[in-house]
Amino acid sequence: MTAKMSPAKPAQTTTNRDYPRIVVAPPGPKAKTIIAKDKQYSSPSYIKEYPLVIDGGRGAMVEDVDGNRYIDWMAGIAVSSTGYAHPKVVKAVVDAAAKFFHICGTDFYYQGFADLCEKLAQSAPGGGKWRVFLSNSGTESIEGAVKLARHHTRRGALISFHNAFHGRTYAGMSLSSSKVKYRKGFGPLLPEVYHLPFHNPYRNTLEDCVQAALELFETKLSPEDVAAVIIEPLQGEGGYAIPDKEFLQFWRRICDEYGIMLVFDEVQTGVGRTGKMWACEHMGVAPDILVSAKGLGSGMPIGAILAKESVMTWPRGSHGSTYGGNPVACASALATLALVDTELADNAVAMGARLLAGLKKLQDKHACIGDVRGLGLFIGVEFVKDRATKEPAVELVARLEQLAFTKGLLLLGCGKSTIRVAPPLVLDAYDVDKGLEIFDACLTELEG
Ligand SMILES: Cc1ncc(COP(=O)(O)O)c(C=O)c1O
Repeated sequence: MTAKMSPAKPAQTTTNRDYPRIVVAPPGPKAKTIIAKDKQYSSPSYIKEYPLVIDGGRGAMVEDVDGNRYIDWMAGIAVSSTGYAHPKVVKAVVDAAAKFFHICGTDFYYQGFADLCEKLAQSAPGGGKWRVFLSNSGTESIEGAVKLARHHTRRGALISFHNAFHGRTYAGMSLSSSKVKYRKGFGPLLPEVYHLPFHNPYRNTLEDCVQAALELFETKLSPEDVAAVIIEPLQGEGGYAIPDKEFLQFWRRICDEYGIMLVFDEVQTGVGRTGKMWACEHMGVAPDILVSAKGLGSGMPIGAILAKESVMTWPRGSHGSTYGGNPVACASALATLALVDTELADNAVAMGARLLAGLKKLQDKHACIGDVRGLGLFIGVEFVKDRATKEPAVELVARLEQLAFTKGLLLLGCGKSTIRVAPPLVLDAYDVDKGLEIFDACLTELEG
């Protein structure tokens, strides 16, 4: 870090923090040098939302290379669940790294791998016996879940949803439909993938979604040919949409009736973010296969496929990964899960309620906010040009992101015109209240 910072967690006060602070308009001189080099040599496919060049962080605060400090409301796309440099996670990672980096969990054994599989299997929703496959990322876990579902059912077709996002590999990309640029030019994609409407109470009705599914089964696709229905229980990249629980219950019934695997992609929603270990626990629906990544490792690359023991029956050697369940990543995940269990899921409930209430107040004040919805620290703020027509305010969200950055608040958009509020689960009352102040000031300025 560039400047001297007080160690460990900041004191629980709303007045004496050393952040946010902007000492030089970002990007500062050091940031500009790094950005110039990155632009010269890195792949042009990277997005780079705004010119943040991170040097380190503490709790829910991020510091850039020029000494600017920001409140983080996006956690590197809902990943840094324990915040930055959590002492318990850092210790677990350092201790594991000092022992060994690699032996390959697909071929050999070690404590952390077995411990993490046990912990995740025991966390699975709905009870019963579950097994776990460890991977490196969300998309790799989705890829594996599709393989498992097809292998188990010996069927080919897959159903996913409008605005879904499941990753960048061929299965992930084929299942996704949030933005055409994720697919354009990469075909042919996986065959036999059918997209249906996802229930977003702000934009459509449950009846419409059910009707579209029944029509598909009547006209194009026999449910008996379907291997899996892959759903984000709450939609992430597509717009932080929260369906009625009846939507997931409908798909559970269909899957039960026709022997289809129900796969929940909890890459963005899982591991305590909504206040429960898995978001589907709020909905009273358990899947057959559950996919995790992102917050699981606090930023260390790790993903997981959880499946009912009766489903995860693929034979020895049929699926594997050189790095999946890397020992250092396993240590980070175990430390993360211990924190989620003991404090962070509860904090997500408390801080999520505070944030939601604050954002709803801002909705009363600013007409451009069409909808505010959330579960724990998974909150969507959708912007519209007009509340009656609900026309998405796409440009406003882009400008809000940039303006908030210059004032010391890190935001990230999703969907057409939604800000996803997905901060580190360690964020506290100060981070909420100060962030709301900046959010409010930005909207006043943008509307003015
Ligand atoms: C719901 C969901 N699934 C899958 C992925 C892909 O994860 P990864 O980027 O780790 O491959 C993402 C990433 O944003 C996601 O949000």
